[in-house]
Amino acid sequence: MATTSTFPPMNAPAIPTAPGALPVLGHALQLLRDPLGFVRGLPQHGELVRVRLGTHPVVVVCDPELTRRLLLDDRSFDKVGPIYQRSQDVVGDGLAGCPHSRHRRQRRLCQPSFHPHRIPEYAPHFTAAADQRIGAWQDGQLIDVSRELMTMTMRSSVSAMFAAELPTQVEQLLLTDLTTLLGGSFRQIVSPALLNQLPTRANQRYQLATERFGRTLREIIGHRRTDRTGPADLLSSLLGAVDPEDPDGQPVLTDHEISDQLRTFFVAGTETTAATLGWALHLLSRHPRVQSALQAEADAVPAGSPPTAADLPALRTTANVITETLRLYPPAWMLTRETTQPVELGGHAFPTATQVAWSPYLLHHRPDFYPEPERFDPDRWSERKPDRTTFLPFGSGPRKCIGDQFALTQATLALAMLAARWQFTPVAGPPVKPVAKSTLTPRGLRLRVTRR
Ligand code: HEM
Repeated sequence: MATTSTFPPMNAPAIPTAPGALPVLGHALQLLRDPLGFVRGLPQHGELVRVRLGTHPVVVVCDPELTRRLLLDDRSFDKVGPIYQRSQDVVGDGLAGCPHSRHRRQRRLCQPSFHPHRIPEYAPHFTAAADQRIGAWQDGQLIDVSRELMTMTMRSSVSAMFAAELPTQVEQLLLTDLTTLLGGSFRQIVSPALLNQLPTRANQRYQLATERFGRTLREIIGHRRTDRTGPADLLSSLLGAVDPEDPDGQPVLTDHEISDQLRTFFVAGTETTAATLGWALHLLSRHPRVQSALQAEADAVPAGSPPTAADLPALRTTANVITETLRLYPPAWMLTRETTQPVELGGHAFPTATQVAWSPYLLHHRPDFYPEPERFDPDRWSERKPDRTTFLPFGSGPRKCIGDQFALTQATLALAMLAARWQFTPVAGPPVKPVAKSTLTPRGLRLRVTRR
């Protein structure tokens, strides 16, 4: 039996089941009605709590130290099972959804593209995309925050991946298909495969977008292979990726592999970053003092030019706002693993094929680690650094987000630009309802923008 720590005796009481499970439905109703409230309440029942999705049991890890052990042991707690199989069918065999057996090689090959020294090269693409989007707003306009920020982050990613060298129609095609893919992938992953094959309009649109998106990516890759004078961007970095463990040192990723990785980066990186920025604007609009502090900081960046990666150390308040936003609303709020062998966690023996879930949202809302956890307080981070056990918006261990610095740089620079140019005010209406699907988003959020 594999262990994740010095093996304690298995005399722990049985893992408690969260209250309120119904026959057949299990906890499905609670999870549908108020998923965040349900998850926040789980730690009061134990370090590990059993939840039933219909008749499928899932063990939710509610303790930071156990979460850390689970994430470090990526061989025993792997990305396998029906959810990951479906996600591979939907988004391809990229880094985010592949099992441990295929992960190390892919990660080794992709890692240099996200090395910290590369991030300043991507930064001008982030600020150009932000500039373009917010430059189109009218004074006093009511904006659909999620839509605006999705457009911004999609453009930003396309630009950073292909150095803004694409003909306009090709870029437009990518953006159109990506919008359809991001809008439909959650439904495709959670629906039974048979339902996805029905010739409904939504399915047909999704299939068409998937095929065309893949084809467009492969054409871009093929074109760049014949013209190696291309710019330094994320694509060129993947094309030149060599395996440090290969004595020949030849580039090794095939066109198909690169296309799957790019698709993964788009899917994993666009909505998550847009959601972070969306939640940040929501919080700022309701906390005018913080918004003023952010504006003052943004105003101190040299006027007339967008901020660059060199300005990041001066954007401390902006960074604290992003950190606090990621604490309150981590976009990847709940994630899963499946055990691939008998393994021990928290004194309990888990047989093979146990479904286990962990949640950055749950840990970030524990009052014993974050006093008054529901309060938006960016100043918490003035004294304290995010620690690797209780603050996990990007995960931890071998499967930690490869795009964390990419995302943080993009979000910080874009937020500084937004704060420098626009004032955000809430509009009357029902409170914003977080939508907790694969990403936690402020869907439907509208804000009034006033030119500064
Ligand atoms: C605020 C934005 C983002 C958040 C909150 C976020 C969050 C996460 C989390 C929690 C994981 C770990 C998942 C798990 O353990 O199951 C992850 C993995 C990953 N993310 Fe991100 N992500 C963000 C942005 C990005 C960006 C911009 C990219 C790429 C351009 C990206 C690419 C990936 C990939 C490829 C993985 C899988 C890594 C691996 O398994 O080796 N993410 N992300």
